[in-house]
Amino acid sequence: MKDVFKGRDLLSIADFDRAELYFLLEHAEVMKEQRKNNNLKKSLLGKGVALIFEKPSTRTRLSFEIGVYLLGGHPVYLNPSEMQLGRGETIEDTGRVLSRYVDAIMIRTFEQETVERLARASSVPVINGLTDQEHPCQILADLMTIRELKGFSPAMKLAYLGDGNNVAHSLMLGCAIVGIDITLSCPPSYGPDSRILDRALGLASSSRVQVVEDPLEAVVGAEVVYTDVWVSMGQEDEEDRKARLKPYQVNRELLDGASPQAIVLHCLPAHRGEEITDEVIDGPQSAVWQQAENRLYAQMALLDLLLG
Ligand code: CP
Ligand code: NVA
Repeated sequence: MKDVFKGRDLLSIADFDRAELYFLLEHAEVMKEQRKNNNLKKSLLGKGVALIFEKPSTRTRLSFEIGVYLLGGHPVYLNPSEMQLGRGETIEDTGRVLSRYVDAIMIRTFEQETVERLARASSVPVINGLTDQEHPCQILADLMTIRELKGFSPAMKLAYLGDGNNVAHSLMLGCAIVGIDITLSCPPSYGPDSRILDRALGLASSSRVQVVEDPLEAVVGAEVVYTDVWVSMGQEDEEDRKARLKPYQVNRELLDGASPQAIVLHCLPAHRGEEITDEVIDGPQSAVWQQAENRLYAQMALLDLLLG
């Protein structure tokens, strides 16, 4: 199975099928164990990975930098404002040149089309580190965390509350692929992109994908309750977002409507008091720190499979 990953890109979580996602998640668990036992194999020895960030990042940057280092490779953080990319060099030419120096490129940017153009022009794997449309690396860590804490039991239900954008899109696709029931609850006009919803519906062979307006309806029976910020990077100018999203806050009352064993996930950074309360994120059902930690292992597994 390992060989099917070599040289591929990860632009959307739907680039992997169910068997591939399961394989990758198992590999991530093994690597987590190996790291704890200090016996990781240096599978990226002599390899370089370029990390381009057009938006801020804490987790993605750190987990990629440390992950590459732990596997014996060399990460190079690149800020477009200090690159020729910021002065008009095209994304294609950037990809052609970087492909001659490094063994993989991770990029965090605005438009999905930018990562697609970069991938077409590059001869090395390109990894989407978040666009306005998707956040596949996040979902690898989320699925890993769900598997660790809950297993992938048939008909398990996840409820996502809030803004139906990048993280919600990838989560919807990822759940559809692995067979978790997902209900998105978003205010009118903050729902997911209809093309991505259709794609998820088409991928869901053994699970349900649905969008409802009422957050209390969405959480009934949910084993996993997930939320994300109300104001994503690049959306800071949209004034009325917070007021429209207020009824979707993950607070004690909402969580009481989910399964008593529900875990709470958040991709982070959290805006405490907005999409999630202190009581919930710091409470016993919160798994957000384990989720953030798993970014490291999920991406190490990804890099090992694409390049190792
Ligand atoms: N969840 C996530 O991608 O966090 P950063 O923006 O800190 O990378
Ligand atoms: N939806 C958020 C995710 C941050 C990791 C954003 O795009 O800012």
